[in-house]
Amino acid sequence: MPASSGSFDPVAPESLSEESVAAAVAAALAAITAAADLPALKQVRLDHAGDRSPLALANREIGSLPPSAKADAGKRIGKARGQVRAAMEQRQLVLEQERDEQVLRQEAVDVTMEYHPFGRGGRHPLTTIQERMADIFVAMGYDVVDGPEVESEWHNFDALNLGPDHPARSMQDTFFVESADSGLVLRTHTSPVQIRTMLDRPPPIYMVAPGRVFRTDELDATHTPVFSQIEGLAVDRNITMADLKGTLDHFAEALFGAGLVTRLRPSYFPFTEPSAELDLQCFVCRGASTQDGGAPCRTCSSEGWIEWGGCGMVNPRVLTACGIDPQEYSGFAFGMGLERTLMFRHGITDMRDMVEGDVRFTRPFGLEV
Ligand code: DAH
Repeated sequence: MPASSGSFDPVAPESLSEESVAAAVAAALAAITAAADLPALKQVRLDHAGDRSPLALANREIGSLPPSAKADAGKRIGKARGQVRAAMEQRQLVLEQERDEQVLRQEAVDVTMEYHPFGRGGRHPLTTIQERMADIFVAMGYDVVDGPEVESEWHNFDALNLGPDHPARSMQDTFFVESADSGLVLRTHTSPVQIRTMLDRPPPIYMVAPGRVFRTDELDATHTPVFSQIEGLAVDRNITMADLKGTLDHFAEALFGAGLVTRLRPSYFPFTEPSAELDLQCFVCRGASTQDGGAPCRTCSSEGWIEWGGCGMVNPRVLTACGIDPQEYSGFAFGMGLERTLMFRHGITDMRDMVEGDVRFTRPFGLEV
């Protein structure tokens, strides 16, 4: 016969005894202390505070206690679980802080560390001025064209109306490529790129060709066997010398400053007819040094003008050699030295500085010339 509920007094489960609870707490605290990192602590939480932990299971037993014992056991378990939770939180904070410190240490960038023992180089001013010049023409719709540095004599001389007897072909300033009858030279100017372009495509042609050229000069303050030029060519219907002058004036202004003009002096080149020497108005004194009482000018030697290059109207013989009908088309061409341009533009007095590749020369130019 079942006992009346009033007299029902089950034996308190062992798991709720003071010793068991104390042992569960001690085991939890020991595990918490032993947890070396956050993942380990997570496992400890599951084992000692999770739904299936000894204290959680003990907590469930409270329901089966007689009312008189419930409060007591509830307090004991509550206190024990609180203790474990507090220790867990405490340890969590410590481990989080340890992790953060470790991450900071691992990901630290030592801003005081020497980043590279060698300073960065600089772009050579010849490169930058070449690009700047090309940009000015690109803005006018010109193409930038390349040609070979080892060139055929035909492109370098014959097609440009420099016949076999022309002095420029003599051994004195041309590097010939062996063997003697190879027909190859190191190009002595960028003008053969005109020829290649005209052979390559029909007019209208608007192109510039910056590049290296070679002549048998000794290296000294004013000469170098390897130097650079920029060549320009326009071939179209009705091209006149006025177009040449306007283009060169624009080029001069874009490179040296507003209001500067160029001057053409009659001259001779086999590949142009008529031909002219191209002078640039002095961009420093603008001619003032030639006036009475004007201060002397170092840039133009008080000439008011600076020799800059050569130009002219493309010789009809050159057009014909390239298969272009001179009755239908005309053109202008010009060419100038880049080292010379840099020298007077920046007051460089020794040409060797430009070929030696010393960064102490290059660096002050920065990325702009
Ligand atoms: N090729 C000439 C030289 O090296 C420069 C030159 C003069 C180029 C007149 C030209 C020109 O295109 O029309 O001295």
